[in-house]
Amino acid sequence: MNFYPILTEDSSITLFNLDYDDVYHSKVGAYTEAIYKYVAPSGLIEFIKNNNEVRILDVCFGLGYNAKTAVNEIIKNSPETKIHITALEIDPVILSLSTILGTECFNEDINYCFFSEINKHVDIQQIIDDYLQNTAHIRPEIQSKTSHRYILVKEDELRQKLHNIYYRSISTRNSIDKKAGNSNINIEFHVNDARFSAQKLDQEYDFIFLDPFTPSKTPNLWTVDFFKLLFNLLSPDGNITTYSNAAPVRTGLIEAGFYIGTTTPIGKKTTGTIAFKNHGPVKNKLSEKEEGILNTKAGVPYRDEGLNSTNKEILDRRQAEKQNSDKISSSKFLKTHKNLSEK
Ligand SMILES: C[S@@+](CC[C@H](N)C(=O)[O-])C[C@H]1O[C@@H](n2cnc3c(N)ncnc32)[C@H](O)[C@@H]1O
Repeated sequence: MNFYPILTEDSSITLFNLDYDDVYHSKVGAYTEAIYKYVAPSGLIEFIKNNNEVRILDVCFGLGYNAKTAVNEIIKNSPETKIHITALEIDPVILSLSTILGTECFNEDINYCFFSEINKHVDIQQIIDDYLQNTAHIRPEIQSKTSHRYILVKEDELRQKLHNIYYRSISTRNSIDKKAGNSNINIEFHVNDARFSAQKLDQEYDFIFLDPFTPSKTPNLWTVDFFKLLFNLLSPDGNITTYSNAAPVRTGLIEAGFYIGTTTPIGKKTTGTIAFKNHGPVKNKLSEKEEGILNTKAGVPYRDEGLNSTNKEILDRRQAEKQNSDKISSSKFLKTHKNLSEK
């Protein structure tokens, strides 16, 4: 429970996590990121123009912005489409908080669809009450740790907001329960390590949203081996979108069999990555510079053959592989290839 809600630049709320010293979304905004790093580049909206059913695998559901934004855009563009969402998330507290934070970006029907599924897996009320009791000591610690880089949601405001929204959800739940709900939306949650949950899935997905924490801190969902698992879960014409442009992520995807391209940058941030099973659909190729860096030591991928290593084991393994590699360092590469195109 070592996280606290912060405001992003588009006013959507995200969390800062003390254990990982990391945010759940970039500063430009949780909602903006969902649109520009996931839903738009995936080609989901074009897909539903020609298909009456869509399957999405959301790896690291978190507060649910990616999955909910996808559902929102599908309903806006093609209300009759049958939507199947499989969401993987390890943390029951985040799942509970997702029913009350960020909900202002979506309509009551969408929030309710997710709420009712999450409610089957975790005791939302108990978890939120425990969380509220713990927020007091976390806030000042996060404020000092982030050196005022982020606007933290005021504690009183948060308490009020959490209670208001929470009790509204609970009170409307019964009345919504009486309605049939949206029968076109089917949501399935797996509350466990995504590496284990993914091994149990037995269907193909048109789109996979890949949104774990920063690769250099938590590489366990950025390994060649996890990507191979995702490769087998992706339909032949499907794609994986992710915010990451890290070299070991890109080489890991390539080694797992994918063809990769870049997605459009948002804010001051750099590009993300899109991965396909075929070469054809890659629209925006990597620049010469990005491509070159993949062949340096910086491009040595993360490995986790048994899909059960700790993050430290994966980082140590990569370090050893880098040391034994005869590839040049990325700094040497950049010095000797100063004139390479960035586009
Ligand atoms: C960057 S956040 C995801 C944000 C999310 N996609 C959203 O739209 O709000 C990363 C999430 O990964 C979850 N996570 C971390 N390790 C995991 C694991 N091994 N398996 C599944 N989920 C994990 C964290 O609890 C956190 O919610």
